[in-house]
Amino acid sequence: MRVEHADVVVVGGGAAGLSAALAAVESFAAAARDDAVVALVSKVYPMRSHTVAAEGGAAGVVPGGVDTADQHVADTMRGGAGLSHEDAVRFVVDRAPAELARLERLGMPWSRAEDGRPQVRRFGGMTNPRTWFAADKTGFHLLHTLFQTSLRETSIHRLDEHVALDLLLADDGAARGVVLHDQQRGEVVVVLAPAVVLATGGYARAWATSTNAGIVTGDGLSMALRARLPLRDLEMVQVHPTCLPGSGILITEAARGEGGVLLDAAGERYLADYGLGPVTPVGAPEARRMELGPRDQLSQAFWHADRDGRTIPTRDGGVVHLDLRHLGKAFLDERLPLVAGLARRFAGVDPVTEPIPVRPAAHYTMGGIVATPSGQVVDAAGEPVPGLFAAGECASTGLHGANRLGSNSLVETLVGGRAAGSLAADALRRSSASRPTAPDLVDQARGLADRWLAMRGRGTEPPAAIRRELGAVLDAEVGIFRDGDGLARAAATLDDLHERYQDVRVADTADVFNSDWTQALELGAMLTVARGVVAAAAARTESRGAHQRLDHPHTDDVARHSLVTTDARGAVSVRLRPVHAAVARAQGDA
Ligand code: FUM
Repeated sequence: MRVEHADVVVVGGGAAGLSAALAAVESFAAAARDDAVVALVSKVYPMRSHTVAAEGGAAGVVPGGVDTADQHVADTMRGGAGLSHEDAVRFVVDRAPAELARLERLGMPWSRAEDGRPQVRRFGGMTNPRTWFAADKTGFHLLHTLFQTSLRETSIHRLDEHVALDLLLADDGAARGVVLHDQQRGEVVVVLAPAVVLATGGYARAWATSTNAGIVTGDGLSMALRARLPLRDLEMVQVHPTCLPGSGILITEAARGEGGVLLDAAGERYLADYGLGPVTPVGAPEARRMELGPRDQLSQAFWHADRDGRTIPTRDGGVVHLDLRHLGKAFLDERLPLVAGLARRFAGVDPVTEPIPVRPAAHYTMGGIVATPSGQVVDAAGEPVPGLFAAGECASTGLHGANRLGSNSLVETLVGGRAAGSLAADALRRSSASRPTAPDLVDQARGLADRWLAMRGRGTEPPAAIRRELGAVLDAEVGIFRDGDGLARAAATLDDLHERYQDVRVADTADVFNSDWTQALELGAMLTVARGVVAAAAARTESRGAHQRLDHPHTDDVARHSLVTTDARGAVSVRLRPVHAAVARAQGDA
């Protein structure tokens, strides 16, 4: 086992992790800490992180325009359906424009208007256009910009293709590092550090029909649960309305923001029949109406249209058509080149002359590790966990509430990542905590790693079957609409899968690049989080945002967060706690 030391260890090489690492470096440099080491752990090469797949853009008010920070806050709070915290929303909204401008100074090629100002486009649920973009490859350019900047920093010590196995905690519960497995060298690595930032992404790949990369498997969330930390609002899973059938590949909301329209099997714009009207003119989208309604409502409208026989049957389920033909080739080439290419390659249609078949897919998970707006993780009693921070999709800071607005997440990765990285480094400087060296931490790491390593070369249950059944039951019972009976069926299936997983077959015994083993680890993480999702969805007997219950269509007067925890044997518990109590508690801490 290799033992390494760092001042801050960041787990996750996507936009939130890279932002956190860069901010920590800056903070140490400001304190003239030339010897500081920031370890950056990624289970893939960082440029393969899921941020790269983001298409449409990042939300932020353009200074001097019609839009205002108050309006951005109001739109986000409305989208959050009672579960957003205003302080968390303001935290991101107020910092968004500066963060987006900073990125440009680092090389981000934002698309520009004739007058040289950043161009912004409309996204669902927004009152004013405020989504900054780089054509429809925003995530690729954003990740590239952050990654190339990180290459300049010699104090960032990259641990690429290292799989995170568990958090290391001291007796008082403080984070003291992480246990990893180096895929290339085939060895266990313990990184001892007085501050750990989790930036491990969400869990939407657990669903069979998903826009997410295969790596988005809830790893950080399952580590947090094993560390007895609560996960908040896990049942809030956003389903994106326009994805390619079969593959789940995202067709960005920007396509609708730029004027694309949705048509049913009869070629009619159907959204007005499901509460999203009045009908807007084709090619002239209006704020919060029709195709620019919030995406949870568009997905719900698809569900109804499907049941009303208005979709077009395919072997991958019913589809509707996203029609971009009226936008013209030149416009599509300039603004939506990726979408045009995806449609040609993966749906076999040219959007210049044909509409694109689309249907909903799991896209983003609002639930996560409970953290303050600046990323300090808190425990089940609402107390800060010393040395532990979280940022990006794995964190639940109160920004997105019950339903995230499109393009608020890319900006969250920048603002939240920066805040968590700075806080981690600053907290360290203030406390003058030294790098942990305790031999018992190394023993703890060895014990944790041995448990995972022991999975290799044993077991009888085929992982592919567990994986397939997991995705299928989540698609069937934990989708756009849910009900008590379906959730009970899902819980029973997941309990069975959990049992079978205890004897999962990992045939390959190799140390190096053992993807049999790492995929089994990811499957375990998805199962752990999915059981929490289903328990929280069953406990929330109301409809709110992304959680719609056919058997409980009302919205409770008092908005409550769900908090999921597990015990040492993996049993899941859920508590519901009024939002105002969580907000008051956070303000008290501040
Ligand atoms: O449709 C999209 O481009 C998705 C953006 C987002 O999820 O923020």
